[in-house]
Amino acid sequence: MVDLAQRRSGRTPVRLGVIGTGSVVREIYEHLYFHSRYRPMIRVEAICDSDAAQLESAGTRWKVPQGRRYLDYDAMLQEVELDAVAVNTPDDVHRGPVEAALKAGLDVVLPKPTAGTIVDAHAIVEAVRESGRFLGVDFHKREDPVTKEARSRYAAGAYGRLQAAQFQMLDRLLVADPNHSPRFFASADFARRNSPVSFLTSHMADTFMFITGLRPLEVRAVGYSQKLPSLEPIAVDGYDLVDTTVLFETGVICHILTGWSLPNAADCLTVQSGRLVFTDGMVDLWQNQYGYREITAAGIESRNVLFKNFEPGGMVSGYGIDCPGRILENIIRFREGGMEAEEQTDLLSPATLGFYTTLLCECALLSLERGSRAEGVVAGAPVEAKALLVERVGEAAARAYYA
Ligand SMILES: NC(=O)c1ccc[n+]([C@@H]2O[C@H](COP(=O)([O-])OP(=O)(O)OC[C@H]3O[C@@H](n4cnc5c(N)ncnc54)[C@H](O)[C@@H]3O)[C@@H](O)[C@H]2O)c1
Repeated sequence: MVDLAQRRSGRTPVRLGVIGTGSVVREIYEHLYFHSRYRPMIRVEAICDSDAAQLESAGTRWKVPQGRRYLDYDAMLQEVELDAVAVNTPDDVHRGPVEAALKAGLDVVLPKPTAGTIVDAHAIVEAVRESGRFLGVDFHKREDPVTKEARSRYAAGAYGRLQAAQFQMLDRLLVADPNHSPRFFASADFARRNSPVSFLTSHMADTFMFITGLRPLEVRAVGYSQKLPSLEPIAVDGYDLVDTTVLFETGVICHILTGWSLPNAADCLTVQSGRLVFTDGMVDLWQNQYGYREITAAGIESRNVLFKNFEPGGMVSGYGIDCPGRILENIIRFREGGMEAEEQTDLLSPATLGFYTTLLCECALLSLERGSRAEGVVAGAPVEAKALLVERVGEAAARAYYA
């Protein structure tokens, strides 16, 4: 047993098992585990990746003993004494390791989105409730100072009644292009198995709902599949760009435009903006500017230094690190019994666990599935969120999510 007083004093960190060591780990979590102010409270005890080359690469970089490297997470959970796991697998592989870890009495930190489907997200919400353990989902935009300010001012009623909003998040093509070297995603088929909806709309949908607390009622999407299928030598059967229109509670309409096929010459890996229009005001978020623009022989680059900030001495800070770092702090407080019941209820509510974000994204994907296609453009059909919930998780659960 780990001595809690020792852990409180910072000497005994959370014993963490890392499941999945792909691009999100390279971009964010490797910094969190080894080069951030959270490092003293994290001890990576074991790692797991079903891809032997990935496992070897992370194991070598992190100096993980051979006996603590696993291809199978069940074996890792059985053999290694852990406090928590970080599940960094693709969206459709979240549920299995999350359920197994919770069942083993461990707490969990998970990158967004909670799951790829509402059936999986519902199972995860239920598994958290049944296990009595803690789970935090890393929607890092919730820690972005821009989002936090908008949320507080919105709650204070600074702008009157919200009427409409539009959000954009557009990645460079290299993110989705499996021909790009080095490949952005560790899984060669990531772009085919995912879409701008699961990878990007999930961020902006969650940001909008985090700011407003509104739940989605009806979703309709339009998808463009014109660039990705033309890639060579590996073509991707998937969407370049998706425009999702969502009708929220109180009649607010929100457009979320996401894509991952901007030319690689774009001045930022992720170009993003948001606008909210109210009865008595308007708010613009980000406007594609992060306050750091460089010109080099390689071109012009705008860097989101609020997300990830490289400090002298090799430390990395920023809201991309703080969001999962705070979840790990919450895990420690939860394990020590230092979390108030009210805060715990809020942190483990379906909204905080990202349930409605998965719901919105699944509605968007279903809208496209039911739509009509012409020349690489799919005009989606409207999908009613509550009706889909009833169909997928049953009447009683659906009613509870919209109580
Ligand atoms: N890439 C990013 O910047 C980013 C940002 C935010 C959230 N995310 C989310 O992070 C998650 C992982 O995405 P990624 O970009 O790292 O994908 P990735 O394909 O680069 O990496 C996933 C890793 O999980 C491993 N894996 C797959 N199935 C496994 C299993 N059953 N057991 C153990 N390992 C398994 C793969 O081999 C791979 O190494 C996704 O949910 C994604 O939406 C990614």
